[in-house]
Amino acid sequence: MIPKAELHCHLEGSIPPALARELAARNGLELPPGLMGADGFYVWNDFLSFLDAYDLVCTTMRQPRDFGDVIYAYLAGAAREGAKYVEMFCSPERPAALGISYGAWLDSLEQGIDRARRDFGIEGRIVVICIRHYGADRALSMVRTMVAEPHRYVVGFGMGGDESKYMPVDFAPAFRLAHDKGYGCTVHAGEVMGPESVWAAIRDLPVTRIGHGVRSADDPRLMEELARRGTVLEVCPGSNVALGLYPSRAAHPLHRLIAAGVRVTLSSDDPPFFHTTLGTEYDKAGLGDAELRGITRTAIEASFADEATKQRLL
Ligand code: ADE
Ligand code: ZN
Repeated sequence: MIPKAELHCHLEGSIPPALARELAARNGLELPPGLMGADGFYVWNDFLSFLDAYDLVCTTMRQPRDFGDVIYAYLAGAAREGAKYVEMFCSPERPAALGISYGAWLDSLEQGIDRARRDFGIEGRIVVICIRHYGADRALSMVRTMVAEPHRYVVGFGMGGDESKYMPVDFAPAFRLAHDKGYGCTVHAGEVMGPESVWAAIRDLPVTRIGHGVRSADDPRLMEELARRGTVLEVCPGSNVALGLYPSRAAHPLHRLIAAGVRVTLSSDDPPFFHTTLGTEYDKAGLGDAELRGITRTAIEASFADEATKQRLL
């Protein structure tokens, strides 16, 4: 099995329907009947309804231990597919809304990560992620909390959410603070919006990685610039096809980005929403073993883990 590493998977988007049902039962919640279809997967039909379904699934996590159980379940499954390193995007919004402290939330995630290392030898890390459509003030206060309460597994800061809202420059104070305090930074861009969104992200934010960034393939000059800078794209082909950005994997620009010299990695984004897994992404990338091993190497190099961890994993 090819060793794998993943840089772009959302904790809240990783909950398989069976686990969501288990968490709902544990927490005395009833999930709306339309959330899961007859095939057992989540039901949604466009980007905004995907975000709504995602928020609903997120509500199944109610107690601190739920967060640790979710990250453990994800790391266990990824390890079975050959992953040795996974960086999870974790949003502190849900625990904060529940009145769970930032520290208690991280303690639970830490326990899940430690348990997965012990049981499967996989290394997990946390990238704290803000939600773009919630605005820049929430992003900045999130980073202030993150830097005030450092944690050994929190290695980076990122932003997901609705890319059509606000501009990267609005979030520059949040990203600059995270960067100045030594956190790696990544931002979703060039997914639902075009190359101009990626240009703005690399111009205005101290990011070494872009979440998705695939629409960069529409602009040769941008691909050249990304290659020159060595910016790494967290490419999630299954997610892009599921969300209708491209009609098929064959039409996906992964190979064009590679041919242009852009550094790419492979990830699953929100696997049970997109009927994919990290292993599926590697299997369906249309690349040979040597290229896939190179992608894993790029992911480890571009990860936000400390140097000693990276060297051990390389
Ligand atoms: N949050 C979770 N998945 C996302 C995606 N694909 N794009 C933007 N925000 C997200
Ligand atoms: Zn994402």
